[in-house]
Amino acid sequence: MRRVEALSTLAGTVRVPGDKSASHRALMLSALAAGESTIEGLSPGLDVASTSQIMVQLGASRRDVGGLVVVTGPRQGLRVSDQALQCGNSGTTIRLLSGVVSSIEGLHRLEGDASLSRRPMDRVAVPLELMGSSVRGEGPRVLPPLEIQGTLRLRGIDYRVPAPSAQVKSSVLLAGLSADGTTTVHEAVRTRTTAEDMLRQAGVDVITTNVDAGRRVVLSPRRPRSQVWRVPTDPSQAAFFCVLGLIHAHADIEVVDVEHSPERIGFVRVLSRMGANITVTPGESGASVRVLSSELRATEVHSTEIPSVDEAPILTVAAAAAAGVSAFRDMGELRLKESDRFEGSMALARLLGCRVWSEADDYFVEGLGSAADFAPFVINAGLDHRIVMSSAVAGVAGQGCDIDGSDTVSSSYPSFFDDLASLR
Ligand code: S3P
Repeated sequence: MRRVEALSTLAGTVRVPGDKSASHRALMLSALAAGESTIEGLSPGLDVASTSQIMVQLGASRRDVGGLVVVTGPRQGLRVSDQALQCGNSGTTIRLLSGVVSSIEGLHRLEGDASLSRRPMDRVAVPLELMGSSVRGEGPRVLPPLEIQGTLRLRGIDYRVPAPSAQVKSSVLLAGLSADGTTTVHEAVRTRTTAEDMLRQAGVDVITTNVDAGRRVVLSPRRPRSQVWRVPTDPSQAAFFCVLGLIHAHADIEVVDVEHSPERIGFVRVLSRMGANITVTPGESGASVRVLSSELRATEVHSTEIPSVDEAPILTVAAAAAAGVSAFRDMGELRLKESDRFEGSMALARLLGCRVWSEADDYFVEGLGSAADFAPFVINAGLDHRIVMSSAVAGVAGQGCDIDGSDTVSSSYPSFFDDLASLR
């Protein structure tokens, strides 16, 4: 159990760690390429460490030189491992890896922790099987552990992703790298473009076209080229400090070097609408985001504004401090994250003292008007790093809290509590 104390004043600058999404992809693309790639700013979290370990198991090598990670992809390509591939808590690892190993001849076993073993993999199994891979898991939702029979004879497909997911899009594109013919992915909502951008940087021909609110991505197969990767910081982590500064009564916080592509920064638009004193100043190595204590008002958030809905739990904390009833619409995907974040976000707001209710995939939070009115609380984070960080923010801005299972924060942000303490 970790005790988080309320703090009376917050001031300072935070630089959050490297983006998890870009870090997983940098490791995978480097391992797939022939020769040496360099990665600067790799996420220090355990999720990314799982991906790194697995790339080594499949035949890549890794050395750390100062702050840089050097990955060498074997000239003859990756090969099957006789050991299970341990994906830990990481959905991005298992889903992207499913695409990668689909094109490596042999039988691959992919395992995860208790949280990951409850998450559906049918979303990648369906397209990968259409490409010629075989993906076996438990039950109709294809729960891990997975057994994937990879083949050198994948076929390119034309696939419409049923529910917006950057992981599914990326998994199919990674499999498409060595498929016969082009691979086309259509998404109805534009999700993060990390995979497309990085594939292009590695010399792969990827053509993207916006179609209404969505996008079409066409990839021509080829081996990615080794690369120097500069991983930007993780905007979903910046969101925790932004909300903290806004709901805290006496705060002035600057989050520096924030990646601010439109698919990642939706939470800033939501907070601005809530009356936040938040300023985004673009710079060379990302934006600087400055937040000052603000009186927030309720808003309506639709999942398409924050694709992947990673920021929903912390926006729920913002809603709990705002005046009025906030609506979170079409949030069903939250149920399928590291924990059931639909129930978990509502439970957190309820613990803070809010009236909370749901209707189908929407939930509603009647805010207290000020974080000073949050109740002290005890919470079990249930193997979910974002529930840990959202709870800690609420505790620091409110009346403190106790978090059971706070260690799971290391899956994405091992130094989170140190960075939080540095603002004291
Ligand atoms: C990620 C995609 C997201 C997100 C996760 C990282 C990625 O999930 O939740 O933290 O790197 O592709 P979706 O697949 O739901 O977009």
